[in-house]
Amino acid sequence: MTQARAYTNIALIKYWGKSDITWNLPTSSSIGLTLDQLYTDTRVDLTDDLKQDLFILDGQLASNPRISKVLDFVRQQTGSHKYAKITSENHVPNSAGLASSASAFAAFALAASDSYGLPTDRPSLSRLARLGSGSASRSVYGGFSIWYQGYDHQSSFAQSILDPVDFGIRVIDVLTDKKTKKIPSSQGMQRAQSSPDYSNWLSQSKMQIREMIAAIKNKDIEKIGLIAERNAMGMHALNRSADKPFDYFAGETWAVINDIHRLYHAGIPAFATIDAGPNVKVITDSRSCQKVADQLKNFGEILIQKPGPGVVHV
Ligand code: DP6
Repeated sequence: MTQARAYTNIALIKYWGKSDITWNLPTSSSIGLTLDQLYTDTRVDLTDDLKQDLFILDGQLASNPRISKVLDFVRQQTGSHKYAKITSENHVPNSAGLASSASAFAAFALAASDSYGLPTDRPSLSRLARLGSGSASRSVYGGFSIWYQGYDHQSSFAQSILDPVDFGIRVIDVLTDKKTKKIPSSQGMQRAQSSPDYSNWLSQSKMQIREMIAAIKNKDIEKIGLIAERNAMGMHALNRSADKPFDYFAGETWAVINDIHRLYHAGIPAFATIDAGPNVKVITDSRSCQKVADQLKNFGEILIQKPGPGVVHV
């Protein structure tokens, strides 16, 4: 038996497209910041009497084909024929709808690698986590990390940029909507790839990766926020210009963004980023986060997050 814990991460430069669905290879590199409030604990037990993998999520029997996909790969690597019981708990303070495949597959990668005797160095864990969910490759690391696009299983993995984070960046979740997302990210990105602007997005993203690494090294929260917001807006513009257009934003999303812009124009560092759903995350600093939170609290529940740790045994 082995149990692992991993935290969610927010993408500052988004992963939004796959070049290979089987191996979950992305069309671009991405940068994430692992946070400290939302995490998943996952335990993997190998037993001889199971006839298939068994998955218990938050105390209930569940099914997720991606779990067995990862385990089939592990079994193929190790020559093991054993099935596993996977027990996973999401720890999400007060709120529903925040469960994350990033924390789940990062924790699962460590627990499964340990149980089956695969290497547990971070690049190897991040490759395995990626097979389950792309963004999970970054949650293997604490602080800022980059997931290199690569061109095959071996070359597509994440590495640390900065951990621990020695400056006061904060991310505020504004939970206007706690329902599960309408269009899963894997479907959303597939549709976005039909946008005529997609290749432009890829070249922008490449430049933004370089700018973001420099901004992180310079501990420049304003630059980090400005680049992240531009990148996120570009991602959502792809969705609106896809062959079958769609939009994750809701009316409240725009209202929150407008308030964030008002704060920024009043001299407060506040920048928006949004993933595959309507909730806005605000990038800000330790001095301003309470003020920003107070300003946005009427929109819904607020969660202030700091940089968090990488995957660990528990
Ligand atoms: C918008 O990692 O959930 O959050 O690989 O299909 O599991 P799969 O996708 P997933 O996509 C995350 C998309 C995003 C941006 C990001 O985290 O980089």
